[in-house]
Amino acid sequence: MQTIILEPTQANIGLAGEIIKSGGQVAFPTETVYGLGANALDAAAVSMIYKIKGRPSDNPMIVHIAAAADIEKLAKNVPEQAFMLAEAFWPGPLTMVLRRRECVPDTTTGGLNTVGIRMPDNEAALELIRQSGCPIAAPSANISGKPSPTCAEHVYQDLRGKIPFIIDGGACRVGIESTVLDMTGSIPVILRPGAIGKSDIREITGVDPRYHASLADVEKFIEKTDIGKEEHFRKASLAPAGAVKSPGMKYRHYAPKASVTVFIGEENAVLNRLSATENSAVKENRNVGIVKFDLAASEQAAHELFSCLRKLDMQGVSAIYIGVINNSQLGDGTAFAYIERLMRSANYNAVFV
Ligand code: TXA
Ligand code: MG
Repeated sequence: MQTIILEPTQANIGLAGEIIKSGGQVAFPTETVYGLGANALDAAAVSMIYKIKGRPSDNPMIVHIAAAADIEKLAKNVPEQAFMLAEAFWPGPLTMVLRRRECVPDTTTGGLNTVGIRMPDNEAALELIRQSGCPIAAPSANISGKPSPTCAEHVYQDLRGKIPFIIDGGACRVGIESTVLDMTGSIPVILRPGAIGKSDIREITGVDPRYHASLADVEKFIEKTDIGKEEHFRKASLAPAGAVKSPGMKYRHYAPKASVTVFIGEENAVLNRLSATENSAVKENRNVGIVKFDLAASEQAAHELFSCLRKLDMQGVSAIYIGVINNSQLGDGTAFAYIERLMRSANYNAVFV
């Protein structure tokens, strides 16, 4: 199959909508990352997504809608707080896990009795959903395990020959995936951190959300205040497998082919460490990638992380060293989510410098 990259014109989105209506799959931009979409209510169409991505079939899809009122077509017993959050943050990078209705097939929810729903903040995505006339199930449009695609070219690298169309919406504004928030219990639980953080959710609902147990290592990492003393980060033992609530979180993710090492600390310490690493790599004739991010600009860091990992992979480097400058207290939105994605890419291989 030939894969065509399309400008996001009304006519092209119409063509893509026809593909979705007839049970096909199309990649499209959102404000977070590119999605690989199919009719969420058509089990056969959704099962092709698992096949195309090489995705484990117990990992549920997020269902994308174009109007908040459609929540109740897909979910039941929706708590009042979910409507408040939709009102505040949709369209935007927030997915809410709710009790599903029968019309949502098992294939879409990975067999769970819940469904993750979000309304993306991207005009081409919203128009595609409207033109398709159905909610669109869409995981990130990458081969399973690779960093999520943040531009059409990344999708093409992974899915060329496997899908007919990629709608090109340019670079994604946010660059990391949506916050996944479980709204089925008495207090909201963050299953996957994203740009909408704990304090955003507290501000709207008046309730302090929890982080899921699988994020304990990230919390521990971020709470570490003893900066200035060199120390390798040690993972706590992860939550037992049975406690995995968001099935996607148990798989290795966001991983480039090269090994990733993170150095985190104050600016001078990080820069010194990076230049020492670079010098020894040059001496040893090793082809490595050296990059730095500044958490004072966490939105920019998040925006660039995945495309940076992909670029270094394309260059064929054997190891990637990422310096993270952190001079202050981290926020609980984008900065937390950035650290979580980074730590998973690095398989928690991080050194406080
Ligand atoms: O920003 C995003 O969310 C992007 C764009 C395309 O919308 N999508 C995305 O989808 O990141 P995906 O499939 O790569 O990640 C979805 C995550 C997975 O960790 C999955 O396990 C979780 O959401 N998830 C989806 N439905 C769920 C449910 N019913 N219960 C618990 N977790 C769920
Ligand atoms: Mg994904």
